[in-house]
Amino acid sequence: MQISLNSASLQNWTGNVLLVGLLEGNLEEQLSHLEKLCDGLLIKRLEKQEFSAKPGDFASFNFLKGNPEKLILIGLGKPQNLQLDDLRVGVSKGIRSGVEDKGSLGILFPWEPFDASAAAKAIGESARLSLFKDLRFRSEPDPQPMPEKIELIGFPESANFALDEIHPICSGVELARELVGAPPNSLTPIVLAEKALLLAEEYDLHAKVLELKDCEKKGMGAYLAVAKGSDLLPKFIHLTYKPKGEVIRRIALVGKGLTFDSGGYNLKVGASQIDLMKFDMGGSAAVIGAARAIGEMRPEGTEVHFIIAACENMINGSAVHPGDIIQASNGKTIEINNTDAEGRLTLADALVYACELNPDAIVDLATLTGACVIALGDEIAGLWTESDQLANDLKVASDSAGEGLWRMPLPNSYREGLKSMLADIKNTGPRQGGSITAALFLKEFVKDSIQWAHIDIAGTVWSEKDRGVNSAGATGYGVRTLVNWINSLSI
Ligand code: BES
Ligand code: MN
Ligand code: ZN
Repeated sequence: MQISLNSASLQNWTGNVLLVGLLEGNLEEQLSHLEKLCDGLLIKRLEKQEFSAKPGDFASFNFLKGNPEKLILIGLGKPQNLQLDDLRVGVSKGIRSGVEDKGSLGILFPWEPFDASAAAKAIGESARLSLFKDLRFRSEPDPQPMPEKIELIGFPESANFALDEIHPICSGVELARELVGAPPNSLTPIVLAEKALLLAEEYDLHAKVLELKDCEKKGMGAYLAVAKGSDLLPKFIHLTYKPKGEVIRRIALVGKGLTFDSGGYNLKVGASQIDLMKFDMGGSAAVIGAARAIGEMRPEGTEVHFIIAACENMINGSAVHPGDIIQASNGKTIEINNTDAEGRLTLADALVYACELNPDAIVDLATLTGACVIALGDEIAGLWTESDQLANDLKVASDSAGEGLWRMPLPNSYREGLKSMLADIKNTGPRQGGSITAALFLKEFVKDSIQWAHIDIAGTVWSEKDRGVNSAGATGYGVRTLVNWINSLSI
């Protein structure tokens, strides 16, 4: 699907479907050029349908002859309240209703956007991501055609460079969605590592996969305890993007990579969504998706490490017992009082490994706790960090990406809940504040001198229904925030 600016005036535009975003207020002025398409009856028809361009208002007209064949109108609300996300949501709603037509789809905003480049990027991203479909596991092709071409009409030439970012970023998001959406019998730790290696080859990234033996040598007892119950070998994946020229800063992105989480002997039962636990590698998918985008965009000055301790949390005769005490690669001993709190164990050794690279900042993404879903729902991920600067920069990046993110507290007093009678620490605290103690557990494995942020994406990794740019299923959450953040460092 090609997304471009079209500088032709509306009269000369010859596409099939025209999607128009309208603001509340002077509808007549905004629609003056479109009236010709509707024999001057457009305003009248809209009045009949009580369309006044409030957020969520929607109207669509088919024409028997001429171009366009279909006109879709979406309401965006009051101009003074307008946010980038209103454009994304409006475009996704409109475009989903227009996909039965292939050919060319035009998007027109008959008013001056506040920031034409940011608006063009948001609209283009929304169009592409809203139309994404994962058909890999169907035996029949999809009968519904897609538009081949999407044209943004009436934007200034200066918005063109913003469109260049759409392809690498959306390809990264789509890759993440495919990784998360793949079932656990198809996306195993081995396959994840193979895909990472192929990506590295394609985008000129350095690649290293540590095998079981290598991880044993490094003393990664926390990560390997989780992997023990599976017939599949763990794969510790490390990709590196090295910029051309001087390295001004080094960043490490760490993603939780559980290709399936059964809970282990603390087996997931009842409403614990065991059937969805293929998405427990959503953090690693975001990190690999970001690697795909960064590898193509090649920002200057920033070296980026992508780190994933991939494995499965399963049950067999050698699986870890509830109550086992193990030792992580920084020497800390951990009493595993709950085998279902496995993500933090894999991340512990991954964070120790990341710290050894001496980065300026580490950001980890993980589907870590059900408690985070209870606190923030499925539209907002939780952010834990002691660095106000990092919190601020990530918030700015997530806002411009349209990905919800909310900073949560990291009180040292809650560390009490992780005290073990026998070991240095236990892996699970009390139920209350469970996403906070999870973050505090991770903090034990990060050097104090390194800025670190943890993002819990347990809620945002998956969407039950079509919402905004997310189609039901894997969202690819995190790719856009990470890429925006890394790119913002390079400016
Ligand atoms: N992968 C889960 C977290 C999760 C739960 C993600 C629901 C998405 C939806 C994680 O490994 C887990 O099982 N966490 C436990 C921790 C508990 C045992 C302290 C949880 O949240 O219940
Ligand atoms: Mn678990
Ligand atoms: Zn898990």
